[in-house]
Amino acid sequence: MEGPSHKVLVFKVGPAIPAEKRAPRARRSHRVRTHPIFWGVDWVGSLTPVEPAAAGGLPDPRGPADPWTALTAEIESCRRCPLGVSRTHAVVYRGSRTPTVVFVGEAPGRKEDEVGRPFVGRSGVRLDRAIAQVGLAEPEFGVLNVLKCRPPDNRFDRAAAATCRPYLDRQLDLLAPRALVTLGAHALRAVDPSAPPVLQTAGRPRAVGSRVLFPLIHPAAAMRSKRLAGRWDADVRALGAWLAPRAF
Ligand code: URA
Repeated sequence: MEGPSHKVLVFKVGPAIPAEKRAPRARRSHRVRTHPIFWGVDWVGSLTPVEPAAAGGLPDPRGPADPWTALTAEIESCRRCPLGVSRTHAVVYRGSRTPTVVFVGEAPGRKEDEVGRPFVGRSGVRLDRAIAQVGLAEPEFGVLNVLKCRPPDNRFDRAAAATCRPYLDRQLDLLAPRALVTLGAHALRAVDPSAPPVLQTAGRPRAVGSRVLFPLIHPAAAMRSKRLAGRWDADVRALGAWLAPRAF
């Protein structure tokens, strides 16, 4: 037997919206003003969709979440390793949902844990400067980490990285970038376990499966010595030259 063809919409009726806070008439949606359900109704209140549980198990009126939103929610509620318990925020991603290039860092630091976004501290300032320098516009790139939660002592946690690994793979499958730029040795090893050490590979593209990988040293390393700062600058210039024709 076929099920009912109607949709069930469940709303909670909120308080009336005071006249001064209502959208001006011209901005109210045509659909709302002309839908029969509103004929003869001159009270304007707020209607908020109700979560399925609160609606007594009825289906979510917004329909199933898209895979990226569902994955983000899964990571944000993950407790599969001890870092998931000690963190303040899981740090999932920032940037375009259709990036050409994804920058892969190692793990959130203190600031990222506080804010819930990758590379928002001092390393992030250096990274953002490099991204601008290589000419990538906002819709072209994204930034994430191998580990989604901060290791309390800021040491890369390999056991946690193994647990977290499926999240990285699923993120990259959904984002489908053409190129990855790894930042530091741990990110390089996570993306290309057979790569030689980062100081031998940084600054040149290499193929990894169906993707191209361009390793860089970690921006925090570039703050540790003049030699590494010089290396960072040279490799970022090389990245810019490689990206310029977008021929990868
Ligand atoms: N270092 C990283 O590897 N990732 C961040 O998000 C911040 C610093």
